[in-house]
Amino acid sequence: MCGIVGYSGKRSAQEVLLNGLEKLEYRGYDSAGVALALEGGIYVVKSKGRLEVLRRKLEAENLPESFCGIGHTRWATHGEPSDVNSHPHSTPRVSIVHNGIIENYGPLKADLLAKGVTFESETDTEVLVKLIDYFCCAQPKQSPLAALREALAMVRGSYALGVLFRDEPDTIYAVKKESPLIVGWGEGENFVASDIPALLKYTRRYSVLEEGDMAVVKADGIRFYDAFGKPVEREVLTADWDEEAAEKGGYPHFMLKEIHEQPAAITATVSPRVEDGMPDLRIPELSDEKLRSIRNIHLVACGTAMHAGMVGKTAIERLARVPAEVDIASEFRYRDPILDPDDLVIIISQSGETSDTLAALRLAKSRGVPVLAVVNVVGSSIARAADYVLYTYAGPEIAVASTKAYMVQLCTLYLFAFRLAYARGRLSEAETRRLTAELLRAGEVIQPRLADCEQIKYLASRFVNTQSCFFIGRGFDYALSLEGSLKLKEISYVHSDAYAAGELKHGTISLITDGVPVIALATQKQVYEKTISNAKETKSRGARVILFTTKNVVVPEGVADYVVRLDDYDELLMPLQLIVPLQLFAYYMAVLRGCDVDKPRNLAKSVTVE
Ligand code: F6R
Repeated sequence: MCGIVGYSGKRSAQEVLLNGLEKLEYRGYDSAGVALALEGGIYVVKSKGRLEVLRRKLEAENLPESFCGIGHTRWATHGEPSDVNSHPHSTPRVSIVHNGIIENYGPLKADLLAKGVTFESETDTEVLVKLIDYFCCAQPKQSPLAALREALAMVRGSYALGVLFRDEPDTIYAVKKESPLIVGWGEGENFVASDIPALLKYTRRYSVLEEGDMAVVKADGIRFYDAFGKPVEREVLTADWDEEAAEKGGYPHFMLKEIHEQPAAITATVSPRVEDGMPDLRIPELSDEKLRSIRNIHLVACGTAMHAGMVGKTAIERLARVPAEVDIASEFRYRDPILDPDDLVIIISQSGETSDTLAALRLAKSRGVPVLAVVNVVGSSIARAADYVLYTYAGPEIAVASTKAYMVQLCTLYLFAFRLAYARGRLSEAETRRLTAELLRAGEVIQPRLADCEQIKYLASRFVNTQSCFFIGRGFDYALSLEGSLKLKEISYVHSDAYAAGELKHGTISLITDGVPVIALATQKQVYEKTISNAKETKSRGARVILFTTKNVVVPEGVADYVVRLDDYDELLMPLQLIVPLQLFAYYMAVLRGCDVDKPRNLAKSVTVE
């Protein structure tokens, strides 16, 4: 949801900002812009469209060198993507970039209009910059810092801000409330960014702003103030990602690279949590005794992370016999869920910044329920707000469509389920060890699926012109149907729906006509015959069926047009293997249809607004 960067130092600010924005483009790509401190004042260049358009515009301007500036890449909320709605928003005295939403911008705008202030754009951000400017000019004259504080005191909503004042051309003010923001520490130069990849070319040392913090960033140092304006220190962290981890590394798209990084991500996530062959959460507060006392589990997340929660629920209930519910975070937060202090809420998030998920976490905590977060980004808002954290180690996920983060969310939830079931006496030590060993070799198990990409590419070529398709499955396969379907529609723009296979004949089957693709997933022994019958029902009505099943399943004549075989593997862990061809199918469909795989339309990687 919008990326912001800021720089003060000795290099070309234009170059540093463009480089940072390129790394943050996954957060939004409706428009981009920069504001640079120059001799005569602040110079703003911005434009609708991808960063490339801005880059060309800047080249044509051929501006003198600037050593301080701010930049923005936008995911539109207030006002359509256009030049005028792009950030930075500015007055001659001040320029700002903003990620978040100013909720009370309407009344603030009305007040300013009544005072004679004029507006060009439809954005909430322009209201904020005009408000800051208004306080800059107030009598008696205010310092930029005082003006900024006065304006922010009137604002409701969420924001990560980068602010540049004409009268302080070497300083960036960075402010954070409910939207992520970090500062980077260099030698004789310092940085502001929404996320770590924007810094990695220059430094790996960074500090995370806490709620309400303001950082005053100059080339020779950074000062922090807390929400009450008190000077504070913030810890300096070192990113363990290097620049290469955030590059395509020879792959045509980040998504394909990230799909292929899954074996390594599995090892990085699972190995550190296995001690002497047994799963070890390494969270002292979640002792076996504590695990025995849990009454209900609520898995809460959005999108793909929520689909991971569905696999987690099935594993937890099947192995540990603890009731587990999956909730969509945006529903959970407003539906007054029934929560008990003996329950456990598991929050799942790649970015650790998803606004609805964070709100769900806060709700659970306000009801006195312990929260365990499964998160990929160290130091993210969700990681910091949770009681306990199980980090996933996928490394940076840049493609908007989540793949490797989902994979390691599954692995982490399996590990949790194993320990929970063992602690509660539902899994013997021998069985726990066996399952843990199977999980440890998941990276190896999925290698052939990565190598089979030609088969999946061929299938995609057979279905490339389809308008609409259906995924069906039961149990784990239903959870995977939802994820396979989401991957396909978000990046290839093919309409797709996922159904519990037994549910199809309760209405949806009326949509099956000649040639409609049905992707049937049948990897679970107890129900695969049922799913195969459901596939056959669609085939009899003209569907073109792709069946994903395991090696030894006998598929009767006339059920499927294409059969994709998976290798034998523990059935409980089969989702780890099955998801790979589904990811590849979505990927190749998107490539063959000429879609922008890594940056699908209307989407953004990190959803920090409701
Ligand atoms: C889809 C996708 C999204 C995210 C969702 C939650 O490919 O990536 O559905 O899973 O927006 O994001 P996180 O995991 O960052 O909370």
